Amino acid sequence: MKIIHFDKTVSTNEYLKRLKNPTEDAVVIADEQTGGRGSKGRSFCSAFGGCYLSALKLYPEKAENCFKIMENAAVAVCKTLDAFGVHAMIKWPNDIFVGDKKICGILIENTLSGDMVSRSIIGIGVNVNNDLTGIEGIATSVKILTGKEISLDAFRFTLIHNLFLPVDEAEYKKRSLVVGKTLTIKKSDGSLFKAKAVAVAENGNLILDDGVQLSAAEVSVL
Ligand code: BTN
Repeated sequence: MKIIHFDKTVSTNEYLKRLKNPTEDAVVIADEQTGGRGSKGRSFCSAFGGCYLSALKLYPEKAENCFKIMENAAVAVCKTLDAFGVHAMIKWPNDIFVGDKKICGILIENTLSGDMVSRSIIGIGVNVNNDLTGIEGIATSVKILTGKEISLDAFRFTLIHNLFLPVDEAEYKKRSLVVGKTLTIKKSDGSLFKAKAVAVAENGNLILDDGVQLSAAEVSVL
């Protein structure tokens, strides 16, 4: 596996997307991103001091099991944070929270070939030592939570190691911030409703207590 490290790049996901015919798994790390991308077309604050990396995995799963890629990434981040003294939870589908504040976002971009995911780009941004001025109300960092700066190299190394471990589905379930809770749910048409989440299905859908399954929605815990 190749590891590429940039002082600065636009987006580590974007870098990997542009690779022509990659033949091996790779990880791209950036100290800063000038155009960090979040989910739903949003930008992602990527100031110096945070952990910004993307892993390229070739043929990681069958297309029908692609949610396992998300499970693996979310659990890898949580296990890494544990190792640095921070206990985090997974807010369905792709955010990592400590209490009511976000510490990490995950952006996965898959390419399908037949019934396989032929390329998965797993982009992870974790607030480690970076300054959160302007977003302190909604975000937190390892530095804020532990009261000290940690080694970014050690953090990245642990995260890369955990990302290439087998999927730990039990850990994903244990870490869910939403299962068992009553949620306010915003659907893609903007409408809001309240419901209790009872499980996350194997395909990644959020199952509500009335049996309805959501494949995409913004949720907040009451
Ligand atoms: C989100 O919270 O909406 C997802 C954020 C994902 C950010 C990471 S940082 C490394 C990789 N490169 C990007 O441009 N985005 C992801």
